[in-house]
Amino acid sequence: MTTIDRTSPNPFLAGNLAPVHEEVTVTNLRVTGTIPHELTGRYLRNGPNPAGSVNEAKYHWFTGHGMVHGIRLESGNATWYRNRWVRTKEVCDLKGGTPPPSDWPADHPSFPANTNVIGHAGRTFAIVEAGSPPVELSYDLDTIRVSNLDGTLPFAFSAHPKRDPRTGELHVMTYYWGWGNQVQYLVVGVDGRVRRHVDIPLPGGPMIHDLAITERYVLIFDLPCVFNLDAAMKGARLPYFWDPAYEPRIGFLPREGSAHDVKWVTIDPCYIFHPMNAFDDGDEVVLDAARHPRMFDREQRGPSEGDPVLTRWRLNPHAGTSRENVISDRPQEFPRIRESLIGQRYRFGYCAGIGAGFAQDTLTKVDHDAGTVVARSDQPRYGYGEPVFVPRQSSFESHNGSTGSGYEDDGYLIALRHDTETDTSDLAIFDAQAITDDPVAVVHLPVRVPNGFHGNWIPDATLDA
Ligand SMILES: [Fe+2]
Repeated sequence: MTTIDRTSPNPFLAGNLAPVHEEVTVTNLRVTGTIPHELTGRYLRNGPNPAGSVNEAKYHWFTGHGMVHGIRLESGNATWYRNRWVRTKEVCDLKGGTPPPSDWPADHPSFPANTNVIGHAGRTFAIVEAGSPPVELSYDLDTIRVSNLDGTLPFAFSAHPKRDPRTGELHVMTYYWGWGNQVQYLVVGVDGRVRRHVDIPLPGGPMIHDLAITERYVLIFDLPCVFNLDAAMKGARLPYFWDPAYEPRIGFLPREGSAHDVKWVTIDPCYIFHPMNAFDDGDEVVLDAARHPRMFDREQRGPSEGDPVLTRWRLNPHAGTSRENVISDRPQEFPRIRESLIGQRYRFGYCAGIGAGFAQDTLTKVDHDAGTVVARSDQPRYGYGEPVFVPRQSSFESHNGSTGSGYEDDGYLIALRHDTETDTSDLAIFDAQAITDDPVAVVHLPVRVPNGFHGNWIPDATLDA
């Protein structure tokens, strides 16, 4: 065991992927520019942040304890920043605090809730895949409980629920090695209770990080990064590796269908963590996603098997056909869109550009209609993490859910950026229609926020849901 430093030989512990060591609370943050008054709520972000020492050579990026960072905006002010580990018994032993109550038996899987943080049904949850349930947090990011969603969650959750903008329901694909060769699809109602679950048998046990939805289908990414029992028996914390013998397929589950109704389309070998979006187009389904050539093959501590490249598939679930085309060969990941267009035809997407060592460096805006990618790079000083699109309130009210309008990108693009000169982070707020212009506002934090995985803007107004 060694002490982590910023120049770790493990790329997933180096640079701005390195963990921070303190929980802090800072109020009345310094702001440059003008924070739009309509942004009242919290920008929350989750990522792996080991609370103690780790085996530096073998550490897998996905296995660190969860740490949630939050910045609260209100009426043009940035009122606080705080970061908190998601409390587990292990974190409490290392950092103090009382382990939270759990709705589950003591032997339930407890993979660290380190990947995403969402607001749903008036609650805040830190979430992860691989068998673990959601962990409910307070408004101020203290851990409240390990949740079973009021007794309705069968077993496991995911880091990537997709909210259907038409219904407000969450669509979730879950997996757990102990189930054998199957995954479980969930629908969580606007009341925060699971209303439907479907067990779907598969030929193996793939890692399924995310899903996509369209108006007709739920897409299942059955791809060749699969559970490896030998590695699990040897103690690997995340025993999922590339298996070239496993057939890469995408499944199409009709939105209210059963496992028998799933149609499968074989695609060329690749791995997908994150779709940008998907939508129905006649008999076909269009899927846009960050395509990795492989996953956890030669590098088994994090994604590093070649550039992630935005790709468009046109898939026909009835004919079983697939065509794929590169959207842009610029390495990009963590795609986001205007979320009122999830599952529908759309024009714009936003990503973090990916540099060496999986560093998140630039902001990108993809225009599918124009076939262009606009990039904002402030290298070498700033590295931008995953951006989040927040609709301008007036456009949200007038055009929410509309397709093909000129207003799809009327809003703000919000991202944390690491300042390599000061070794601190800023929350940068851009006009999404002009991301290469100066930011509308910058909130200056006195500390560094590691790149981590995923974040969301959670307006206070949604807490009344
Ligand atoms: Fe993810």
